[in-house]
Amino acid sequence: MGIRIGVLTGGGDCPGLNSVLYGVLLKASEKKEIEEIIGIEKGWNGFLTNKTRKLDITSLDDLHTIGGTLLYTSRTNPFKDVMKEKDLEEREKKVKEIAEEMTSQFDTLGIDVLIVIGGDDTLGVADAMHKYADAKVIGVPKTVDNDLASTDYTFGFWSAVQLASNSMDNITTTARSHQRIFVIQIMGRDAGWLTLVSGISTGADIILIPERPFDFEKEIISVLKERVRVGRKYHIIACSEGAVPTLESLKKDFKTLTQDAIDKLPKDDFGNPLLSKLNMSQIIVEELNLRKDLKEYFNLNDAEYDVRDVVLGHTMRAGTPNSFDRILGLRLGIHAIKLVIEGKFGLMTCLHGDKIEAVPLSEGAQKKLVPKDSDLIELGDLITRVKYHKNHRLQGEKE
Ligand code: F6P
Repeated sequence: MGIRIGVLTGGGDCPGLNSVLYGVLLKASEKKEIEEIIGIEKGWNGFLTNKTRKLDITSLDDLHTIGGTLLYTSRTNPFKDVMKEKDLEEREKKVKEIAEEMTSQFDTLGIDVLIVIGGDDTLGVADAMHKYADAKVIGVPKTVDNDLASTDYTFGFWSAVQLASNSMDNITTTARSHQRIFVIQIMGRDAGWLTLVSGISTGADIILIPERPFDFEKEIISVLKERVRVGRKYHIIACSEGAVPTLESLKKDFKTLTQDAIDKLPKDDFGNPLLSKLNMSQIIVEELNLRKDLKEYFNLNDAEYDVRDVVLGHTMRAGTPNSFDRILGLRLGIHAIKLVIEGKFGLMTCLHGDKIEAVPLSEGAQKKLVPKDSDLIELGDLITRVKYHKNHRLQGEKE
């Protein structure tokens, strides 16, 4: 009997998931060692409840061009209850037990190997299965957030950047017509890659990301004043879903938000706070609307003071993958099958430069945030700062 490979997609969907699946099917089709590819539906949920179906490439032509995931997805976390255990030794013991139980599920599902396509949460589960029960797993990194370590890019990211950029370009025309301030909320729970890159690409006037808590007075109010003073009539603020004020700014500048409200946000199965429920763009709009002094300043400078928020939300994950993500997805899927044939497990396929390689899952399932010294941060700052100087000269400005 040949190798039977199970494949699942977990966590938030993103463009390119089907491209990976097609890569897996394409490469498997030329390997006589592989008997079948079994699709497991709804991520870890279907894995635990035996929701499977055989994937047949003959009925899936050009699957790599289609958005979303053929296999459905979920945020089911098999370790959810264990994570509540305070005693670390006890917790590890329970994780091991569950990892072993899950690995024995391979027999029930009729699979020898499992390819797991997901973000850090989904891959973390696969890593535990490999670490504690020697499960034959291979990970493939996905997320529009681009926040996975050990890969240059996750597929889905550049499609989402394009979607965010198109929306921001479009909003800019209406902002210009009405002379409004728009606060645009972009996905990115822990990492600001998506907001930073799409913000730079569309010339956003203020960019707020989770890695750099902001000072409301200094980074929003003063910048808006400065921009109005030099004659700017509309303003675009790109705000990451996970952007938060500094503790000091939260206490001194915010009337509608408290630390308590942030701490009490509901959490998903993996314990991540549901930041979309906080709605930072709306909070910023509310706070700006309370600032009568700013409104007066705008009016004195012959500018409208009309503040709106737009939440791009799930439109960031929607639609077909762009060409980059189709190719990346296909290559990662093909590489996963190569690893299966070579009998190499506990690895995550990844992009390094222009090469597809593999790293240990334990490294790949880690978070990658925007580093403080990133040239993208420098570029974002430069692009926003230069525009609140009348003659666009920054020399002599205090750093
Ligand atoms: O997949 C990552 C992500 O897009 C985050 O940026 C966002 O916070 C989250 O998913 C939203 O998830 P859901 O679709 O479950 O609301």
